[in-house]
Amino acid sequence: MRNISLIFKQFSRSVLLVAGLVVYGLTAQAQADAAKGEAIFKAKCTACHKIETRLTGPALGPQLTSETDDAYLTKWIQNSQALVAAKNPKAVKIFNEFNQVTMTSFEELSDADVGNVITYVRTEWKKMQDDTSKKPPVPTEPSGPSSLVVWSLIGVILIAFIVILVLNKVIATLERLLLNKQGLLPEEEETTDEEAKANRLATVKKLLKNKKLVFFIVLCGTIAMGSFSWVTMWNTNVHQGYQPVQPIKYSHELHAGVMKLECQYCHTGAFKSKNASIPSLNVCMNCHKSVKTESPEIHKIYDALGYDPNTAKYDSTKAKPMQWVRVHNLPDLAYFNHSQHVKVGNIKCQTCHGQVQEMKEVYQYSPLTMKWCIQCHKRTEVNGKGNAYYDSILAAHDKIKKGEKVTAAVLGGIECGKCHY
Ligand code: HEC
Ligand code: HEC
Ligand code: HEC
Ligand code: HEC
Ligand code: HEC
Ligand code: HEC
Repeated sequence: MRNISLIFKQFSRSVLLVAGLVVYGLTAQAQADAAKGEAIFKAKCTACHKIETRLTGPALGPQLTSETDDAYLTKWIQNSQALVAAKNPKAVKIFNEFNQVTMTSFEELSDADVGNVITYVRTEWKKMQDDTSKKPPVPTEPSGPSSLVVWSLIGVILIAFIVILVLNKVIATLERLLLNKQGLLPEEEETTDEEAKANRLATVKKLLKNKKLVFFIVLCGTIAMGSFSWVTMWNTNVHQGYQPVQPIKYSHELHAGVMKLECQYCHTGAFKSKNASIPSLNVCMNCHKSVKTESPEIHKIYDALGYDPNTAKYDSTKAKPMQWVRVHNLPDLAYFNHSQHVKVGNIKCQTCHGQVQEMKEVYQYSPLTMKWCIQCHKRTEVNGKGNAYYDSILAAHDKIKKGEKVTAAVLGGIECGKCHY
């Protein structure tokens, strides 16, 4: 009998061991999968997808969590157009939802590769939901002391004031009681109006003589004025939310949002120079020569260019510049370069300008204060891998180390944007 129970014990132990190993192996496998998936996701999908928000394509976190048919997803990722062509109802639905923008086919990815990407996205999305602190830092923060600080200060002052009032009342009552006990309190007399008035005046005079009270009131006044001017000064010249009226009702929501024109189609400078630049009206004419020709808004473009839609001829003598009102404006003492941020830093326009593609009229989304610049510089990690800018710096670094000749030109000294505003 004893033997049997011994054997049983040993057997159950080894079963437990094997089970443990299998579970361990599986989790290790899952981790490896997610890591492989991350590499593929970053290389192939981030151009159009983010995990948490919609970009050109849907937010993949929620999408891959609600859609659980992995076989369908694999087919979709490897060749979405084949599914659309085969009239797969799910595929057709999402294709239409995204204005029939074609997703690139990834036939080079094996089923396992795709599985890894899906695992990565699902685990990452779960992590994001579990741990809200992992969400990317919001770059815009109100400048100056937060309103919470100001309000709690006011609250503390109010409470202190009430406590003092109550204490005063208590002391007065106690004094009266004491005097009463000693029989020293004069009999209350009937007071006339005149006397009441005089009494009140006397109380005010007494209060004014109370140094503690006067000090307290002056202190409150100073704190209130101080915080008011502190907030005002912090916000001087901060034009967050500034939204001037433009000469033409041009809408980013329509052109960049609904029509999905790339930002650089119009703001060509953003990737290669300091200024993002406002497009010339010729860019608009690429389409508006034939689109909405009857609209009075579009006729403003024609007038500015001296263009006659009936003859399709330009008359440069009638041309006058379009006076767009500048929304963002740093003072001249600060140097900001778009290409350094957009191209080298790989920062999305929306990080600084907000969801422009959803704005009917553009407004200043970020405060554009020095604190705003500095905070982002402290928080943002620079990505040095596969970045031509850093490759050139590293190359120069190697040359200097080897004692070879390095000119300022090698360090970017002949790029226009380094010297010119
Ligand atoms: C060129 C842009 C682009 C790239 C790159 C891209 N996608 Fe997409 N994706 C889209 C668009 C747009 C849609 C929406 C459907 C449509 O219009 O075709 C979409 C939809 C999807 C869907 C939803 C399918 C459904 O029916 O729920 C998944 C999943 C997906 N993409 C995964 C990926 C993965 C994984 C990668 C990288 C391997 C990737 N995408 C790369 C543009 C892209
Ligand atoms: C079809 C051309 C076109 C496209 C595409 C376009 N823009 Fe613009 N953008 C303009 C014009 C014209 C103005 C000037 C009028 C105005 O402020 O609305 C402008 C103004 C702006 C401004 C304000 C500039 C200032 O005065 O400070 C920002 C910021 C901006 N665009 C960002 C973007 C971003 C981000 C995208 C991509 C999502 C984009 N734009 C796409 C034409 C375009
Ligand atoms: C890629 C083509 C394209 C470009 C470039 C383009 N637009 Fe448009 N625009 C359109 C289309 C399409 C519509 C919408 C027509 C409709 O409502 O059916 C439109 C509508 C408009 C409208 C609204 C007209 C109305 O009365 O409803 C204005 C204003 C406008 N565009 C101004 C501009 C300006 C200014 C530029 C240059 C900075 C520009 N567009 C560049 C295609 C373009
Ligand atoms: C790191 C933050 C940041 C990013 C990213 C960024 N911008 Fe800007 N943008 C600014 C600041 C700051 C100004 C004001 C510059 C000035 O007044 O000198 C500005 C000004 C502009 C202007 C006004 C004209 C000009 O050139 O000064 C346009 C248009 C513009 N941005 C478009 C874009 C577009 C399009 C992108 C994406 C390709 C983009 N920005 C990315 C911060 C940013
Ligand atoms: C959204 C984050 C962000 C904001 C906001 C931002 N920057 Fe930057 N900035 C970066 C990053 C990231 C880099 C590094 C890019 C690179 O060289 O890899 C950078 C680089 C720079 C550099 C070049 C530093 C060097 O020597 O290479 C200057 C100058 C600069 N920023 C100025 C500004 C100014 C001025 C503002 C505010 C008006 C600003 N930035 C706002 C992220 C930001
Ligand atoms: C090393 C600094 C530096 C670089 C790099 C540089 N410039 Fe200049 N640039 C200057 C200086 C300084 C002046 C003013 C010279 C003068 O007034 O005689 C100037 C003047 C100019 C002018 C004449 C402006 C006027 O009002 O007369 C133009 C145009 C110009 N540069 C264009 C460019 C272009 C385009 C590039 C890039 C290919 C470039 N520069 C690169 C320093 C530079």
